[in-house]
Amino acid sequence: MFKMEPILDMNQEERLKYMNFLLKSQLSSEKDNLANISNAAAIIDACIEGLNWVGFYILRGGELVLGPFQGLPACNRIKVGKGVCGTAVKTKEIQLVSDVHLFPGHIACDPASNSELVIPIIRDGKVYGVLDLDSPKKGRFSDLERKYLTEFIDILNKHIDWDKL
Ligand code: SME
Repeated sequence: MFKMEPILDMNQEERLKYMNFLLKSQLSSEKDNLANISNAAAIIDACIEGLNWVGFYILRGGELVLGPFQGLPACNRIKVGKGVCGTAVKTKEIQLVSDVHLFPGHIACDPASNSELVIPIIRDGKVYGVLDLDSPKKGRFSDLERKYLTEFIDILNKHIDWDKL
């Protein structure tokens, strides 16, 4: 059973390290891709404070389709090049957006979102989707989250067969 108690007394970086430890233990105990990315979204939600949405969009047939997430119901599909997520796919670059209202073409799935971090999921040069985090707090995300979430995706990439989701 998952317990929140160990996390409560940790500082921000300790939580991020613990998040990646929890992901590794999830991946070592389960082989199903869908179960693993579902719990991956829940692990981030439990370990990172101040999120209103976190989840995956998976590239299918040339557009992003909603995957496992935590938060309010969200947009089902996002075209490559559109919004923060579609931009991360098109550029193959992490998008760290301090104020989404200043990002041209930002897609407001949840009006509470004010800042956003999107990590593209890339293996051998091919983009499989994105991990998207939203916060109601402007400037919520920093290089610390960027670093540990990049590592999080690297860990996932070693275990998940994105083509077989
Ligand atoms: N804001 C995103 C859309 C997805 S939701 O935030 C869940 C974007 O601009 O791509």
